[in-house]
Amino acid sequence: GAGAESSAESGGFPDVRPRRLRTTPAMRRMVAEHRLHPADLILPAFVREGADRPVPVSSMPGVVQHSLDSLRAAAVDAAEAGVSGLMLFGVPDEAKKDAVGTPGTDPDGILQVALRAVRAEVGDALVLMADTCLDEVTDHGHCGVLDADGRVDNDATLVRYAEMAVVQAEAGAHMLGPSGMMDGQIRAIRRALDAAGHQDVGLLAYTAKYTSAFYGPFREAVNSSLRGDRRTYQQDPPNAREALRELALDLAEGADLVMVKPGLPYLDVLRQIADRVTVPVAAYQISGEYAMVEAAAERGWLDRERAIEETLMAFKRAGADLTLTYWATEFARWLRAHS
Ligand code: PBG
Repeated sequence: GAGAESSAESGGFPDVRPRRLRTTPAMRRMVAEHRLHPADLILPAFVREGADRPVPVSSMPGVVQHSLDSLRAAAVDAAEAGVSGLMLFGVPDEAKKDAVGTPGTDPDGILQVALRAVRAEVGDALVLMADTCLDEVTDHGHCGVLDADGRVDNDATLVRYAEMAVVQAEAGAHMLGPSGMMDGQIRAIRRALDAAGHQDVGLLAYTAKYTSAFYGPFREAVNSSLRGDRRTYQQDPPNAREALRELALDLAEGADLVMVKPGLPYLDVLRQIADRVTVPVAAYQISGEYAMVEAAAERGWLDRERAIEETLMAFKRAGADLTLTYWATEFARWLRAHS
C-alpha cells in the first residue's frame, strides 16, 4: 500500500527513490514509456493555384502556400525524412470559387492537379491524402452547400463529397480526409469510392472535430472566404461524450483511421477514443497550435525545439498513433539527427 513508500517507516529517509531512473540521458532514454518516430508523422500542406513560387503564410511562420514545384520538392523532403504521409489542401483561384465548390470536382482543379504531380513524383513512398471538404472551394467558405435559407444542407453536401472523393481518388490519393463534419459523410464517401472501383482508397475520419478559435491561421493559409462560424456542424467544445457517439458512427460507416482535432485542447477526448478503438488513432496539431509555439519562440519566451517535442509527446502519451503536424519534416529530421 501507500505506506510502503512513506518516509515515516524508514526513519524519515526515502528508501524508494524514483529519481534514480532520471539521473542520466541514457537512463532516461532507457525507461521512456513513449518514443516519437518519423513514421508517426503526417505533413499537412497547402498548394496554391497559379503560384510560381511559394507564398508565405504570415500567421504560420515557416509554412507556405506551395507552387506545384515547391510542393513536389516538399513531398520528396518529407519522404526522405521518414514522414509517413502528406495531407493536401488546395487553394484555388478566387474567381473559380462558387456556391457548390466546382474546383473540388474539376479534374483540373488545383488539388487534383497537385495530387497527380505528387503521386508522379513520389509514387507510394508517402501515403498521399486529400482534404475532402468544400470550404476551400466555395465562395461562402462553408464546408457544405447551402439551402435556400443559407443553412448548410447536410444531404446535398454528401452528394458533393461523394463526387469529390471519386475525383480525388482518380487523381492518385491513397486516403481521403473528409473534414466537414456532415452526418453520414464516411458512409456516403465509402459507397461512392467502392462503386467507382476505389475499394483500396482509405478514409481518415475527422471523428471529433471541434469548432475552434485555433483554426484561425488555417483560414489565412487557404484564403478562406468564410464569414461567420461552423458551430452548426463542428462539435461544441463542452462535449466529450458526444465524441464517442461520433466515433461509433464513423466506425460503423467504415472509417479506417479516426482523428481528434484540434490536438492539445482535446487530449482528454483523444485518450477516451484511443482507449476504445482497434483502428489507428490520429491527432491533428492544428494551425493555431503551431502559431502559438512559433510566436512565443520568436519572442524568446520558450525553447522552440523543446516545446515542439513536448507537444508531440503529449499526443503520443494521450494515445495517438499518428500526428498531423506542420513541423513533420523538420521534426522527423531532428529525430534522425538525435537518434
Ligand atoms: C476544413 C479544415 C479546416 C482545417 C482542416 N480542414 C478548417 C476549419 O475547419 O475551419 C484546419 C486545420 C488547421 O487549422 O491547421 N477543410
